[in-house]
Amino acid sequence: MKKINRLMHSLYMHWAKTHFHAKYNLANSGLTNYPLTGLHVELKELELTGSSYYGYEPLLHAIGERYNVTAKQIYTTLGTSFANFMVLTLLFEPGAEILIEHPTYELLISTAQHVGYKVKRFHRRFEDNFQIDISALRKSVTPKTRLIVLTNLHNPSSALTDDKILKEIGKIAQSVDAYVCVDEVYLDSAFELSLRSSIRLGKEFIITNSLTKVYGISGLRCGWIFAKPELVQKMWYLTDLFYVKHAHIAEQLSVTAFQNLDKIKEWSRSILEQNHRLLNKFLDTRKELEVFRPGYGTVVFPRLKKGNVEDLYKLLENKYDTAITPGRFFEMPDFFRIGLGCEPSIFKIGLHNISKALDELRLSSN
Ligand SMILES: Cc1ncc(COP(=O)(O)O)c(C=O)c1O
Repeated sequence: MKKINRLMHSLYMHWAKTHFHAKYNLANSGLTNYPLTGLHVELKELELTGSSYYGYEPLLHAIGERYNVTAKQIYTTLGTSFANFMVLTLLFEPGAEILIEHPTYELLISTAQHVGYKVKRFHRRFEDNFQIDISALRKSVTPKTRLIVLTNLHNPSSALTDDKILKEIGKIAQSVDAYVCVDEVYLDSAFELSLRSSIRLGKEFIITNSLTKVYGISGLRCGWIFAKPELVQKMWYLTDLFYVKHAHIAEQLSVTAFQNLDKIKEWSRSILEQNHRLLNKFLDTRKELEVFRPGYGTVVFPRLKKGNVEDLYKLLENKYDTAITPGRFFEMPDFFRIGLGCEPSIFKIGLHNISKALDELRLSSN
């Protein structure tokens, strides 16, 4: 029997799925779980099976209204994960190149490799507050480039890429007839900036997003793509190869979530504001860390100036029941990611534990 030689897997996702048991979990990039009771839904309002094959109209309407896009520009799917998978799969052709930011969410790289792209990278340097180096990006595109991919806000740093830079990236993509895929799963967490989806910047933009991170609603798997209608149509056709239809209950509950989204946003804002204050106090006292602090977002990405992040990670896991995300998953082993989405009482203890572990590591290296 022939072997499967091209078995792709994601080291990061495997780690994430098997290491989220810590009591003080600061490894999660999204908000803690929003409770089902917060949706005030009655069982009798739900139906098990529906007849929506190419998008559930009420959900398309709810998403469209919230983000100011038409139903024809929306493709609904299972979380941002499947949204990204769909975009990368749809646009692939043999020999295609993809340009992905560095550092980034690891799944973007492993998915691109699985699909068959030649993966090229463009840098976002710590010294530049993780902003995109446009001139380097310009030099990296070729006639084979199909897609330029970035996260906005940036995972792992929460850096914002503004409209001016995004338009530049759009022009670079247009110059070689490519698309720009912007994963906006963290964008809504920059509450005070009231940012709008970059789908409005041009037909070359494709946006992926979901309710999983900023709104703490991971369980419904409510994700979507915004793209020009011709592409959305192709996505629905490609879906015929994947599955018949979505779980109808999840679609109905997603509509209810959208009806409650302003309230859920305030819940999320309150948690993140408290945790950003706690984080600032913590960072002010930790001289062994240097960090870009955007002041918003669900994650920060400090650098450990001296010492080994893996030692810190292991000490936290084994002695303090505390989880952080080691920078090796972002190809930056001197860094680690702290997620701000958990309950503030948990977050406070988690930070305190990081302080204790940092002290201990310093003492043991003296
Ligand atoms: C940039 C980015 N995109 C997508 C995802 C996955 O999102 P979802 O849970 O909606 O599938 C993550 C999860 O960490 C992420 O960081």
